[in-house]
Amino acid sequence: MKTPIILANWKSFKNPTEAIDWLEETVILYKILHKKEFLNYQGKIILCAPFLDLPILREELKNAPPELDFVLGAQNLAALDDKPETGEVTAQMLSNYVSYVLLGHSERRQKLGETPDLVNQKIKIALDNGLKTVVCLSNLEELKSVAENFPNYDGLILYEPPGAIGSGQPEDPKDSNIMAGKIKNIFKKAQVLYGGSVKRENVKDIINQSNIDGVGVGGASLIPSLFLEIIKNVSTN
Ligand code: PGA
Repeated sequence: MKTPIILANWKSFKNPTEAIDWLEETVILYKILHKKEFLNYQGKIILCAPFLDLPILREELKNAPPELDFVLGAQNLAALDDKPETGEVTAQMLSNYVSYVLLGHSERRQKLGETPDLVNQKIKIALDNGLKTVVCLSNLEELKSVAENFPNYDGLILYEPPGAIGSGQPEDPKDSNIMAGKIKNIFKKAQVLYGGSVKRENVKDIINQSNIDGVGVGGASLIPSLFLEIIKNVSTN
C-alpha cells in the first residue's frame, strides 16, 4: 500500500503567532489520536508556510514528535539569482530554512502574472540551490512548458485544476488520475500530487487512484483537527 505525501499550503494565512498555535494544537491532537491509535501515518508532510513563519516553525518543529514527519516548504522564491533585488527572498536565503519550494501555483499564475517562462526560471534557481521543487500545473500547456525545459524532471508535481481550488468542488478523482498519468508519461520519475478542495471526506478516493502519490491541501490544512483527519484517513492502518 502506498504512503501518500501530504502537502499543506497555508497560502497567505497565519502570522508567526498563529503558526505556532497551529503547531502546538496539531501536536497535542496528534498525541491524543495517536495514543488511541487512530493515526499511524508513515509518510512525509510538507508544510508550505508564508516566509515570515519559516524561521520560528523551523525551530519549533524540532520539538514535534518524530513520527510526525514535517518538512518545511516555501511558497515562492526570487526569479533572479543575482543581488541586489529589493523585496525578494532568494533561494540562498530560503535554503537555510526549507527543503522544498512550491512554484507556479495557479493563484500566482493567474493573479500575479507569473508566466511559464518565469516559473521555469524559478525551477532552475531552486534546483541550482539544492531545493526540492513542487511544481504546480493546471493544464497540458503548463506541463509542456516544464517538460521542454526540464525533460528529466524528477521532483514533485502538484496538479491543481483552478476550478477546484478553494471552491469545495474537487475534480472527479478519475479525471485527476488521467491527468496524473499524462504527467507521469512525460516525467517518469516525478511524483504527482492532486490539489483542489481536498477534504477528509474525499482524500481516500483521491489517493486510491493509481497515478496519484499524494495531495495538496489548502483551506483544510489551516485547521489542525481537519488536517489531522485528512492524515488519519490516508494512514496505512
Ligand atoms: P484548497 O487549495 O485545498 O483550498 O482548494 C488548494 C491549493 O490551492 O493548493
